[in-house]
Amino acid sequence: MQQAEIGLIGLGVMGSNLALNIAEKGNRIAVFNRTTARTDEFLGEAGPLADRIIGCHTIEEFVAAIRPPRPIIIMIKAGEAVDQQIDALMPYLSKNDIMIDAGNANFRDTVARFARLDTTDFTFIGMGVSGGEEGARHGPSIMVGGREESWKRVEPVLTSIAAKYDNDPCVAWLGTDGAGHFVKTIHNGIEYADMQMIAEIYGILRDGLGKKAGEIGNTFGAWNKGRLNSYLIEITEKVLAAADPESGAPIVDVILDKAGQKGTGKWSVIEAQQMGIPATAIEAAVAARSLSSVKEEREAAQKIFGNPARVFKLEGGAIETDLELALFAAKIAAYAQGFAVMAAASKEFNWSLPMPTIARIWRAGCIIRSQFLDEITQAFTANPDAANLIVTPAFSAMVKQSLPSLRRVVAAAVTAGLPVPALASALTYFDAYAQARGTANLIQAQRDFFGAHGFDRIDGKPLHHGPWGSGA
Ligand code: 6PG
Repeated sequence: MQQAEIGLIGLGVMGSNLALNIAEKGNRIAVFNRTTARTDEFLGEAGPLADRIIGCHTIEEFVAAIRPPRPIIIMIKAGEAVDQQIDALMPYLSKNDIMIDAGNANFRDTVARFARLDTTDFTFIGMGVSGGEEGARHGPSIMVGGREESWKRVEPVLTSIAAKYDNDPCVAWLGTDGAGHFVKTIHNGIEYADMQMIAEIYGILRDGLGKKAGEIGNTFGAWNKGRLNSYLIEITEKVLAAADPESGAPIVDVILDKAGQKGTGKWSVIEAQQMGIPATAIEAAVAARSLSSVKEEREAAQKIFGNPARVFKLEGGAIETDLELALFAAKIAAYAQGFAVMAAASKEFNWSLPMPTIARIWRAGCIIRSQFLDEITQAFTANPDAANLIVTPAFSAMVKQSLPSLRRVVAAAVTAGLPVPALASALTYFDAYAQARGTANLIQAQRDFFGAHGFDRIDGKPLHHGPWGSGA
């Protein structure tokens, strides 16, 4: 029998969909699942695609079914199970076989796995896959980290299954070891910020302006035709239009306001902090999810502090245009921060992360896909050494145009008692980033006062301590 081009372990929803996508694009694929009945069930569901799928009941059979050097996608729950799977595979592999972790792994685990396998005959790819179930089935965005020669082996298959933006496949090799999983983590950090900012604008419309879910959905629908056009805005419109089959009420109105999180947002923030890069909009989004989850505490606190009217009052007539521009400005800050974190990580981990390529492969397939990412691609292509996205000519013009709206919206929300942590952090980021003379001179003085930490002077003179001891 003709050997498979690639293998896949783990026939959960994501694994099954990825396997079907691979087969559909004309590639032969071998599949294995720990519970073998699932493999049979999967083949039964695959229809005509089953002709290109080799279902295997043992690891030995599975490995033998793949053409060497064998690329093997592992699509199982992130964490220890991945190491166990690697250990279970190793006795059956041959030189240069490639194990590919396609889960949402912490890139530090990927770096460690890559290093461990580097001491063997085998190698490792950490592969970020974005786009949820639909993306896996019909075209995800794929972020690859590992050896360049391993990438060459998998490039044709991955290119065939990736989403396309104007025929350009949304897949790329981004660097060695953990580069792909790091970029996927930051993708998710930006996703958190994007979602939180949308939720804050929804909060203003719902609580501050008294709009119903359907009306708010229409507003997002209109915005989706303009500068905010993106998958997340598109699904927000759909979500707001959907009714609860039980009660007939808008489904959003019956969903508990406690957000889940699996860790990638938090990892983005941890890594940003480790490198000293402000990612305040992402931080605010992660913190907002955490605060959302303490529902009982919030209910108790509302009893103590009362429930203000939260009436949102904005000067001028074009409230919706201001909200749209405010969301756009804040979105720019979140993306600028995410890209700044990746630029720092590129240096820190010697990856040479290609910023225009990252923006390019996020234009389709992934959760944060949008037209906007094409503009980021162009900005980084034209200005490869820009210190920050917001100082590129195209983005600085967009910020100048939209920032006044963000300022008005945040001011009105804060006055009304409407929580807008991510929007406010984005505004403050712009204000602080563009303030040539800040206030850290006072912090330096305080640090020197209590700890003799020293400071630099604006005149460059070599006097590095204040006159604290002399009773000043
Ligand atoms: C994607 C998503 C995907 C997943 C997140 C959700 O890019 O396809 O980001 O990876 O939906 O893990 O993360 P939370 O459960 O933390 O919101």
